Amino acid sequence: MRAALKTLLPRTKEIRVPIATKLVLSFLIIVVFISAVYMIIGVQLISNRIVSEAQDKVRHDLNAARELYLSNLEQINSAVRINANRFFLRDALLSGEFTQASHELQRVRQNEGLDVLTLTDENGNVLLRTSFFDNTGDDQSDNELVKAIMDYEVPVSSTMIVSGDELSQESPILANQARISFIDTPLAREREKTEETAGMMLLAGAPIFDDDNEVMGILYGGTLLNRNFGIVDKVKETVFEELQYEGKDIGTATIFQDDVRISTNVENQDGTRAIGTRVTEEVYNQVVGHGQPWIGRAYVVNDWYITAYEPIRDIAGKIIGILYVGVLEDKYNDIRQNMILTFGAITVAGVLVALVVSYFIARWILIPIFKLIDASKAVAAGDLKTKVEISTKDELEYLAESFNAMAQALQKRDDQLREFTTQKIMASERLALIGQLSANVAHELNNPLTGIVTYSHLMLEDTDLDDPKKNSLEKIVGQATRCRDIIRGLLDFSRQRKPDKTLSNINTVMEQCLSFVENQALFLNINITKNFQEDLPMMVIDASQIERVIMNMIINAAEAMEGEGDLILSTRSVQGDSFVELEFRDTGPGITGENIEKIFDPFFTTKDVGHGTGLGLAISFGVVKAHSGTISVDSEIGKGTTFIVRLPVKVIEEVPDNGQPIQSFSY
Ligand SMILES: Nc1ncnc2c1ncn2[C@@H]1O[C@H](COP(=O)(O)OP(=O)(O)O)[C@@H](O)[C@H]1O
Ligand SMILES: [Mg+2]
Repeated sequence: MRAALKTLLPRTKEIRVPIATKLVLSFLIIVVFISAVYMIIGVQLISNRIVSEAQDKVRHDLNAARELYLSNLEQINSAVRINANRFFLRDALLSGEFTQASHELQRVRQNEGLDVLTLTDENGNVLLRTSFFDNTGDDQSDNELVKAIMDYEVPVSSTMIVSGDELSQESPILANQARISFIDTPLAREREKTEETAGMMLLAGAPIFDDDNEVMGILYGGTLLNRNFGIVDKVKETVFEELQYEGKDIGTATIFQDDVRISTNVENQDGTRAIGTRVTEEVYNQVVGHGQPWIGRAYVVNDWYITAYEPIRDIAGKIIGILYVGVLEDKYNDIRQNMILTFGAITVAGVLVALVVSYFIARWILIPIFKLIDASKAVAAGDLKTKVEISTKDELEYLAESFNAMAQALQKRDDQLREFTTQKIMASERLALIGQLSANVAHELNNPLTGIVTYSHLMLEDTDLDDPKKNSLEKIVGQATRCRDIIRGLLDFSRQRKPDKTLSNINTVMEQCLSFVENQALFLNINITKNFQEDLPMMVIDASQIERVIMNMIINAAEAMEGEGDLILSTRSVQGDSFVELEFRDTGPGITGENIEKIFDPFFTTKDVGHGTGLGLAISFGVVKAHSGTISVDSEIGKGTTFIVRLPVKVIEEVPDNGQPIQSFSY
């Protein structure tokens, strides 16, 4: 047990973690866990919110860009419509004289900032071309716009794709301006073409009526969007207010012809406009392929943007290009990063505060426990008067009360034990003193008494039968013999001399004892049965001392039965020849429960004065104990008593005699 404890102790020391640490750690784990969850959810929410804010903004920006784009178209439309109604055009058409009209239209074209302003007859044959004077007479009735005006006789305006040849008709300069070579762009779709020769134009046209309200001609005009940055720069200026972020424009706008940037303020790495770069395939498929607007992240030339794209349609509703606005994603990323950092900082600060607070809370909770530890140390050191004062109104207070009660109970028991031991020590000291005294007295009395017995016997023998002194002498002999017996018994008891052991057969010793008593008057009416085991092992015993024990048992039985009854004597080996048992069973009156506890006490007897000394069993016990054996007794009132003496066969080293007979009995 102690060894086990010893091995346990160092290990316990190694892994000893103070409760305060455990409490703080538990708090911390909870706080960190909650904070982590809170942060993940928070960051997610913030990110989503930022993204949706950005997308909302970019959607609005696209609306604004579209308004600008349409107002541009409308401006052309109204310029063309107004001029188509002017008299000088009608006059020119009626008279066929165009010099004056040419001057006027030229002025209009310049004032309105148009690239093209052309007059045709009612069949679409060009009469006057302000952008290319020498080129007239060609038929424009195939021109979708002109055709629509001829068919419906109303003003029409739209974005149109104009082929390179047609552009050349209108003006070689324009054809040149429209021509755009593709620049390799990551994520753009594969195209076989390497350049765009057609142009995209904002075109408007209006019929010119004569007095009979018949169409007599058509005036159409427009601007080429390729390399014309009016609209996109206006968007940047008004919608994005030309804001910059880390040297880059925050907002950008672009007009695509099919998938090619023809008008943009998105820049290449070198700072030039990214004309000729193309939209990513993904965006193209959605916007041009499926006619759906695109709102979301997109890779634009060199950077990621939060973007909005929507299709641009021609007069027939065919998708011919894309209008785009985008806001640099970096700005939002930085906003998000800052938010996350702020969030993280707040969380970490919260954790730190929780750590400090939980440390103090833990210490505060533990104060009573420290008090209890101190108190229990004091109790362990023997100070049972220690008291713990805790008033936390909780289990710890209850524990402290129990602790105090325990210390008090220990104190009480300690006091009682001390008193009891003191009394016991005093009693045994007294007994030892008396024992010593009586041994001395018995020793001193033994010789003179032997003299008295011997000489009184001699005197009795010399006295005649009729001598009147004979009676007195007999009494003297009787009483003196009794005195000597008591004194010898006392001496035997107090000396407890060491047994003189020899190899003996216990059956023989039993037989010998029986032969002493068999013929005595007390035994005449006693029926003796012998159950001796024949092959009993030989034993090393002090035969004369054991003889005394046996005699005492037999005589006690006979006396108890008052000379009438059965006495059954048995011997047997038990526990595989390790022990031999001698059993004395009688049919006497038995021993009461009260007496059975005292029968081994010296001088305890139930017999009349002069008949018993009360030393027989006390001496027997001493003897049996000196042989390392035991005596047990089993008795039933009215039926009989059985004494069993058990002796070890092998010589066991003697137990030092402390003068206290070991009593072993049962009943
Ligand atoms: N076989 C027995 N039957 C009943 N009582 C017995 C028996 N043996 C012993 N006792 C009781 O034990 C007492 C003590 O016996 P013992 O020490 O031999 O002293 P004594 O025989 O001188 O009285 C006896 O007085 C008797 O009451
Ligand atoms: Mg006796």
